[in-house]
Amino acid sequence: MPREIITVQIGQCGNQMGSVFWQRLCAEHGISKDGTLEEWATEGGDRKDVFFYQADDEHYIPRAILMDLEPRVINNILTGPYASLYNPENIYTSKDGSGAGNNWAQGHQSGEKIYEDIFEMMDREAEGSDSLEAFMVMHSIAGGTGSGLGSFVLERLNDKYPKKLVQTYSVFPNNEELSDVVVQPYNSILTLKRLVNHADSVVVLDNAALTRIAGDRLNANFPSYDQTNQIVSTVMSASTTTLRYPGYMNNDLVGIIASLIPTPRCHFLMSSYTPFTSENVDKAKSIRKTTVLDVMRRLLQPKNRLVSTVPSKDSCYISILNIIQGDVDPTDVHQSLLRIRERQLANFIPWGPASIQVALAKKSPYISSSHRVSGLMLANHTSIASLFRRTLDQYDRLRKRNAFLEQYKKFKTFENGLEEFDDSRAVVEELVQEYKACESADYISYVRISSVQVGDAFC
Ligand code: GTP
Repeated sequence: MPREIITVQIGQCGNQMGSVFWQRLCAEHGISKDGTLEEWATEGGDRKDVFFYQADDEHYIPRAILMDLEPRVINNILTGPYASLYNPENIYTSKDGSGAGNNWAQGHQSGEKIYEDIFEMMDREAEGSDSLEAFMVMHSIAGGTGSGLGSFVLERLNDKYPKKLVQTYSVFPNNEELSDVVVQPYNSILTLKRLVNHADSVVVLDNAALTRIAGDRLNANFPSYDQTNQIVSTVMSASTTTLRYPGYMNNDLVGIIASLIPTPRCHFLMSSYTPFTSENVDKAKSIRKTTVLDVMRRLLQPKNRLVSTVPSKDSCYISILNIIQGDVDPTDVHQSLLRIRERQLANFIPWGPASIQVALAKKSPYISSSHRVSGLMLANHTSIASLFRRTLDQYDRLRKRNAFLEQYKKFKTFENGLEEFDDSRAVVEELVQEYKACESADYISYVRISSVQVGDAFC
């Protein structure tokens, strides 16, 4: 029985990422633009049914829900080559179509209004699954719709489906780019609270790192969203490959998450992928050599991470899962792991097993590749807290000046005061402290103390 996953793409960024992700899944499984199986796609052995179901006429339909508060991006999808791939009943665009004006509060409040419409789609998809495992949400945390409506969706998914996993692919803004949305620290802090409290796992991607990697690996100093989204969809496809091409291990999401996330709140993952070539991203430069050791070593280099963090001398890995694809001899994997350990290329927490887990995954038989081996690293690393610290600092600067708050006070959450901001800030600060505590050997007692405090609050 498949362990189905329903994807939920929200706002401009979420829908643009989602659109590229689905194009990639179609290519990997031999599904044409309109959902029919290509004649040459005869290999079998894959689990299309994790992400697709078949209509009465045998067409494959993505288990995807698309929503936006303005119609432009979804209209582009519906007038493009993949227009007839999606189930039209699974698409919500707002009738007045003005978006959420980069305002979390507006996006969140819209959720209340459109609750029936959007949860009718979720419930129908969930009921149509045999053994639903997870919802996978794609969004950005900086604008109004992906952040505000995205937060609303996370809260309600948790209420309605408490036993289902919720994983998000969350795009953080490019902090190095001043022209991006000025109120993004407000929107980000409010969304981060929901990502802490209502998601089981968050794959963090940031536009600064995506732009840097695109500059490095592609012939593009100013990459298009399409190119950065191809980088993201390569990572999303690699991180779901063991679910779609089952082997001995990691055949369900819960297994992957359990191996990476030992304590519930520290569930923010970073990813690296190598090599990006023209088979996965337009205009990528060619690469010279890929052995298992080359790939594993490159995955550990900070410059290859899809998130820009500032490590301190104590920063360390909580866990690492490498998903290696290609022509691989298991003894090469063993040797590479020994080399990495000898050279101490990865520092681990002092209170848990210090090991890199490796899953050998199959590749799609329908996509040719010029390199022997490729790899994805999913890692839980304490330096992710530096990204949250930076967001907190930017938030504090804006908040100290009481800048741009009037536009938030127009909405219900802030009508009677700004406590929601303070509360969200406190949740993010606590998260930063917990990652810091992870770096010391007595973290286990920190976890015990904080759970006693949480318990007290309920007494
Ligand atoms: P409203 O426009 O307020 O309705 O919200 P929205 O959620 O639709 O906004 P959007 O998704 O555009 O969020 C803005 C943030 O997302 C900015 O940081 C953008 O740089 C980033 N962003 C927008 N589109 C994309 C995309 O296709 N890919 C990536 N990587 N980032 C994007």
